[in-house]
Amino acid sequence: MSKVNVGIIGFGTVGSGTVEALIENREIISNRAGTDVIIRKIADLDIKTKREVVVARELLTTRAMDVIEDPEIHIVVELIGGVKAAKEYILKAMEGGKHVVTANKALLAEQGQEIYQTADRYGGSLAFEASVGGGIPIIRALRSGLSANRIKTVMGILNGTSNYILTRMPQEGEPYNKVVQDAVDLGLAEDPPTLDVDGTDAAHKLAILISIAFGSPASFEEIYREGISSLTPDDIRFARELGYCIKLLAISRVRDGRLEARVHPAMIPRDHILANVNGAYNAIYLDGDLVGPNLYYGLGAGKKPTASAVVSDIIDLARHIRSETDVIMPPLAHFNPHDKGLLIRPMEELSSEYYLRVSALDKPGVLSTIAGILADQQISISSVIQKERETGGPVPVVMLTHEALECNVQKAVSLIDQLDVVMDKTVMIRVEKR
Ligand code: HSE
Repeated sequence: MSKVNVGIIGFGTVGSGTVEALIENREIISNRAGTDVIIRKIADLDIKTKREVVVARELLTTRAMDVIEDPEIHIVVELIGGVKAAKEYILKAMEGGKHVVTANKALLAEQGQEIYQTADRYGGSLAFEASVGGGIPIIRALRSGLSANRIKTVMGILNGTSNYILTRMPQEGEPYNKVVQDAVDLGLAEDPPTLDVDGTDAAHKLAILISIAFGSPASFEEIYREGISSLTPDDIRFARELGYCIKLLAISRVRDGRLEARVHPAMIPRDHILANVNGAYNAIYLDGDLVGPNLYYGLGAGKKPTASAVVSDIIDLARHIRSETDVIMPPLAHFNPHDKGLLIRPMEELSSEYYLRVSALDKPGVLSTIAGILADQQISISSVIQKERETGGPVPVVMLTHEALECNVQKAVSLIDQLDVVMDKTVMIRVEKR
């Protein structure tokens, strides 16, 4: 085959980055694919707004079906995001015998099984490197480089926007909303950015990684999710005083035959391997039975890094189309058809150390009342800091606990918050040392 034709649906940040990469790196892309890779059509509802990349007017259409129904197009690239319309386009493209590339983590996390099965049924390929970790080739690493391993742990910083916010908050002491807006302006954030800061985006990515790493379809709804919006600059400062930093972590770990699957802010020691992952960077730590620990680091969001992943998928598929063989990775290759999959361990059974910040009135006996509630729930305190009273209002009482059960800590926090001397909701952050 002398050329492979690509049709792109979605000409936003990632779409225009992909077009730009295909044009600017055309020569190396063709060399590596072994065939010319040609953009044949680009569909977007808005084809009037000027993009940074210039394309011929006749390539543009407002109808996604013009891409899907074009018999000359071999690869359909879906970059509109969202679930409903994207799913419809992807399924139609597969039914029409096209190969599909997508960056759509929400769709794969929430309805991946149907998409993988449809790709399998119609014999097409489904490539989704850009769905997790932006430019980090983590899907390929798991599906091929580490395919001999039984994976024990997947843990990482999977959301660039929240990592950018957490990095800038303590450094510059800027208002939260301004930092969020900067992340939007840099093309890092989801639309709306609440999906980044409430943990949904990281949980989508974790669901995809779980399905590949552990070979069992993870139900997105079962992943515990907590975002960063309740954190204050004070918590970040106290964490630092205690020798920690705060990151939004996605954690999945096999324990006693069941799988932990959780996304939440976590305090990690400042010498932890993920502690210096800052700004829009992502990092994913894996532990395999043969390979041991592995770490992947890179830009997890933004136009060019994401385009790097999308175009790598296009090149892989172009090689496959050109060779006319059936050697491409089947869409369902990561699932074990004979395995029912690992059950998710309920969050209440988690055992961890905890940071608690109680806003309490500075009166005699308050600390001992709080300590008594913790003791009743079998929670042992490892350190306490109480800050000076400034204006007669509540003072932050900051505590670190030894390892305790999540259900006991939740109970203790709800009892503490009912005390008359406690003026605000207690902040609880899990401490992750491994
Ligand atoms: N909004 C995502 C992030 C990038 O901030 O990581 C795309 O996955």
